[in-house]
Amino acid sequence: MKRLIQFATVLAILGMGVAGPAGAEDTEAVYKFYCAQCHGLTGKGDGPNVSKDFPVSPRNFTNAKEMDKLTDADMKNVILDGGPAASKSPMMPPWSKTLSEADVVGLIKHIRKLCACKGKQG
Ligand code: HEC
Repeated sequence: MKRLIQFATVLAILGMGVAGPAGAEDTEAVYKFYCAQCHGLTGKGDGPNVSKDFPVSPRNFTNAKEMDKLTDADMKNVILDGGPAASKSPMMPPWSKTLSEADVVGLIKHIRKLCACKGKQG
């Protein structure tokens, strides 16, 4: 019986670790996992996945001038539906089947931090 209680306690502790609310840390993990391979950890578009034969460079998120041309809605559109949804390269994959709405909202905030820009309003 004592063993069983110990086991239950361990499960409860593990459970708490997994079920935390989505916060900034989670968004960073999502970015690192799905986006950094192309866009780079710091957003410069220099991720390990980018080879010489990439037809277009992944957007440099630290280029505030370029990033200011996009509204948050533009970004959401491209992230969910991929480059072609905004007449951009299909090298930018669609993520609507992989990421939740909350993930995408978090990513947009993360990218705005990387560019230190507010983006086009509207
Ligand atoms: C396989 C490589 C690759 C991955 C992975 C990737 N991207 Fe991209 N992304 C690109 C490329 C290439 C472009 C540039 C497309 C162009 O300019 O035609 C781009 C462009 C963008 C743009 C700018 C679109 C615009 O209108 O200028 C945003 C925002 C973006 N990506 C967000 C993300 C996010 C968020 C993730 C992770 C969920 C991600 N990308 C993962 C390759 C990638």
